[in-house]
Amino acid sequence: MFTPLRERIAAHVGPLHLLNIGDSFLEPPAVARTEALLSAELPHLHRYAPVQGLPELLDAAVRKVQRRSGVAIDRADVQVVSGATAGLMTLCQALIDPGDEVLLPAPFWPLFPGIVACRGARAVQIPLYDRLDDPALDAEALFEAACTPRTAAIYLNSPHNPTGRVLPAPVVEAAIQVARRHDLWVFCDEVYEDLYFGDTPPAPLWTHPDLRERAFAIHSMSKGYAMAGARVGFIHGPPEGMAAVRAAQTFTTYCAPRPMQVAAARALDAGDAWLADARRLYQGAAEQVTAGLGLPPVEGGTFLFFDAAPWCGGAADCTPFLERCIDSGVVLTPGAASGQAYASWVRLCFSILPPDELADAVTRLAGVMSR
Ligand SMILES: Cc1ncc(COP(=O)(O)O)c(C=O)c1O
Repeated sequence: MFTPLRERIAAHVGPLHLLNIGDSFLEPPAVARTEALLSAELPHLHRYAPVQGLPELLDAAVRKVQRRSGVAIDRADVQVVSGATAGLMTLCQALIDPGDEVLLPAPFWPLFPGIVACRGARAVQIPLYDRLDDPALDAEALFEAACTPRTAAIYLNSPHNPTGRVLPAPVVEAAIQVARRHDLWVFCDEVYEDLYFGDTPPAPLWTHPDLRERAFAIHSMSKGYAMAGARVGFIHGPPEGMAAVRAAQTFTTYCAPRPMQVAAARALDAGDAWLADARRLYQGAAEQVTAGLGLPPVEGGTFLFFDAAPWCGGAADCTPFLERCIDSGVVLTPGAASGQAYASWVRLCFSILPPDELADAVTRLAGVMSR
């Protein structure tokens, strides 16, 4: 998908701001950085970890979930994974059969359909997140119309990549009704759970009382704690499902990297102040971009997503706009990566650059968007 733009990027002379990459300009909390991990102080640091995860990380995960959601989960129902990507892959391996379908509200995180496809199953796209403010939106009817006898799960993500939206309660209710009616698993992707910009933390989806026996929560160290390269996350859910997840975990990565599990446990236990700072900085970055480009505010996450058709003469394909952005020194992601209905949209990551570089990127983009 990016191929037509690759040559343009390769041919570009001068600085290039890579706002297509979903990562952070921050370093993780000091206690969780690799330079704070000494094998002399941490016995067996380079050995395998237990399949379920290091005890200290499992305990830290239980404490973190309790702090964030107010819900006490059982440590036995937690599984450490090599990031949410591998976690979702393991979930699909454990709970989805080849030929099954997974409801995927769109636009979406670009990797999810491929994860489902690796299991021989199919992600069914349902345009939703760009319609949340439409008073005529009937989310239940949309989910219902997409269900077939092969539907096995719904995937929900909030705060959301790429729109920066938090799912409103009525849409969550709609998903729950459909999940109950069709006896579906619900995959709650919580990787942006700490990156909300309102005063009140949004209630994590999986905590809804009607979801507890069918919801799996997928957490990651990548986003909130700026540890994407560490490849650590954790999943929890109902006990029978988690037993299947644990079995599948043994045959996928066996265990997440042990040194990074130590780092993750430290970040979860000692990172609250760091996290509050990161949230404030990302919120500032989001405001810097939306104000600079005249776009609506976002509610959380690290991305914003907008329809570039006005800068493409109303065309359905935003490639010419993306090319002009590259020529001006900024790389954005084509919206088509987030769903077949979004070929004229583009995604921008606002957490990847420090404020001064982001300001330069915004100035360049504003130049493109003023033409
Ligand atoms: C919604 C969503 N889920 C999962 C992931 C993957 O996270 P991880 O780095 O933990 O594999 C991402 C990464 O961008 C994401 O945006």
